[in-house]
Amino acid sequence: MITARTRVYGLIGHPVRHSLSPAMYNELFDRYGIDAVYLAFDVPPARAERVADAIRTLDLVGVNLTVPFKEQVLPQLDDMTVAAEEAGAVNVVIHNGGALRGYNTDGEGLIRYLELQGLSLGGLRAVVLGAGGAGRAVASALLERGAASVAILNRTLSRAVVARGALERRFGHHELSALPLRPETFAQAAAGAHLVVNCTSGDGARAVSALDPAVLSPGATWVDINYWMPDPPQQAACAALGLHFHTGLGMLVHQASLAFELFTGHPVEVPVLEAIIRERG
Ligand code: ATR
Repeated sequence: MITARTRVYGLIGHPVRHSLSPAMYNELFDRYGIDAVYLAFDVPPARAERVADAIRTLDLVGVNLTVPFKEQVLPQLDDMTVAAEEAGAVNVVIHNGGALRGYNTDGEGLIRYLELQGLSLGGLRAVVLGAGGAGRAVASALLERGAASVAILNRTLSRAVVARGALERRFGHHELSALPLRPETFAQAAAGAHLVVNCTSGDGARAVSALDPAVLSPGATWVDINYWMPDPPQQAACAALGLHFHTGLGMLVHQASLAFELFTGHPVEVPVLEAIIRERG
């Protein structure tokens, strides 16, 4: 029952009405007996500068941020993790006595999932498609787990260069490259690579369809983080080549479970979350 003591969490973004998060987190609050509620706040992009103040003023305990606020909120935070800094984006904000700390659980979510699939990341050669918040978070997490090389390919080359720049401070001794997202550059960067993660969104699927996964190392893994796509680009081509293909559903489950633990301190059993997503998704 909602009372005067019920704590409030939420998703802040635009659009948000399609989101699974309220159903998912409210069910977890229920299951673990936590007196809290999770709401979706549809905030007009023009109000970006007021997002942090709203969290403080209304005493929201924790929020997920989505488009377009993941990057825009950065200057308003008191503190953020290194992963969030390297991603240039936060998807979780925790509020403690007026202080806001930003986190990015995308990269760690993907890594946890891949490790559970038995993929060993140490020494691996990876190609990340996309240099938005998600691509940068994934690149940072792969390097943190010991990947030997990461190539970031992006339609807008300057964003890939910025992404590489943010990683150089900690990982300057690794092989880092920033390249335009084109079939020729992919063929060169992905030759013999062990992992490709597609983090482009929207019409990026078209550019990704034009790439040739045959250049990858035998037994390589391809992940497309767009978990809602019925027919993600390269899924069929990977199957034909005997490569491992994963949708972003596993990453979604693990990043949401990390967020819930940051929100409440309560760990989530992953199968519980998977069942909720299966039922509601
Ligand atoms: P997210 O937070 O999900 O990473 P984002 O910051 O908007 O979202 O990044 C979207 C990514 O998809 C970017 O890498 C973007 O490329 P640009 O930096 O060139 O915009 C990529 N993307 C979007 N539409 C694309 C398209 N039609 N072709 C290729 N890449 C595309």
